[in-house]
Amino acid sequence: MAAVRARRAIEKTEKITQRRRVRRGNAESRIGHFCYTFAFTVRGFQFGPFPPDGREIIYEESMAIRRVGVVGCGLMGSGIAQVSAVGGFETVVREVSAELVEKGIKGIEKNLNRLVEKGTISEAVKSEIRGRLKGSTSIDDLKSCDLVIEAIIEQLPAKRELFGALDALCPPATIFASNTSSLTITEIATATKRPQRFVGLHFFNPVPVMKLVEVVRTIATEPAVYEEMVAFGAKLGKTPVRAHDSTGFIVNRLLVPYLLDAIRALEEGVGSIEDIDNSMKLGCGHPMGPLTLLDFVGLDTTYYISQIMFEEFKERRFAAPPLLKRMVLAGWNGRKAGRGFYDYSDPQNPKAQKF
Ligand code: CAA
Repeated sequence: MAAVRARRAIEKTEKITQRRRVRRGNAESRIGHFCYTFAFTVRGFQFGPFPPDGREIIYEESMAIRRVGVVGCGLMGSGIAQVSAVGGFETVVREVSAELVEKGIKGIEKNLNRLVEKGTISEAVKSEIRGRLKGSTSIDDLKSCDLVIEAIIEQLPAKRELFGALDALCPPATIFASNTSSLTITEIATATKRPQRFVGLHFFNPVPVMKLVEVVRTIATEPAVYEEMVAFGAKLGKTPVRAHDSTGFIVNRLLVPYLLDAIRALEEGVGSIEDIDNSMKLGCGHPMGPLTLLDFVGLDTTYYISQIMFEEFKERRFAAPPLLKRMVLAGWNGRKAGRGFYDYSDPQNPKAQKF
């Protein structure tokens, strides 16, 4: 049965591709035909039979993104919602409680007010942006979105459960994206029946300021969907980079070992907290030293990421140093906890901790 369904799907793909070939009539479409057929075949092997309800996977024609849903209104989710609304998209951001929605939206309003004060945008433009942004506690409000971006806790079961629910709610054309920084996009995508319409969109903290978005494709991501997401990243004013679904993608593959090595250097007494930070700031021109950056990203977040990356690669460079584990156990999770490598009792004047 699975083989018959796969054959039918391939035939359907061929028909779609043939239509496209007639339209384009050039070598590019023949390459496209091969890629689509190959992707279908690989998908059949990779994830087993097509959807058990007998639904065939149909390639949707490229669609315009108008309405964006963001799940999670914390540090990353609120930043993504902000840049989406600023980018001209109707945006609905969903959190689990009214308090969390309010907190996230207040942060966005504060950022927009700062832009007005600096003269970057007018009061009228701010109102337009604010008008495009809606907070919600109901997942049902995401059902008319063309794209849903998830930015919830970095835990696979929670993400899979969310996307399973979204898959049942949203039309088949809706594209799903995860902002995960270390989990495997393929593993999250297979909680849905639309892995071909699933990508990673990895933003950086603080989202309104950092210019990068990693656009991550899996072996199942439809090329047209992927290109649409690259274009979407650019519409948000970001520079999109293309990355495969390899744990940590590009940035964390390089950044995480560097951050963990800074902790190891501290453990081994190579330098003090201030000296390690100043070395990389003044010697290499980094905006923050590694231990300040760890406090900024969150020690708990870095700890979880390192565990996922170590599990995947089994290499020492991704292993959490004992000091990091102990700080997380003690709740010294960095700036958000008021304490990490620095003490933030006076946030304007952080003091390096003595261990
Ligand atoms: N939201 C919005 N805007 C913010 C902001 C925030 N949270 N924080 C700072 N800004 C803005 C300020 O308003 C200011 O804007 P103007 O220049 O227009 O006035 C600008 O950013 C610079 O801010 P400051 O002058 O207050 O401070 P700064 O010059 O030290 O810059 C910083 C702050 C941008 C955070 C800079 O220190 C920096 O780039 N740090 C490195 C951050 C980084 O590496 N982030 C990636 C972390 S890794 C990650 O996120 C992914 C992962 O998976 C772990």
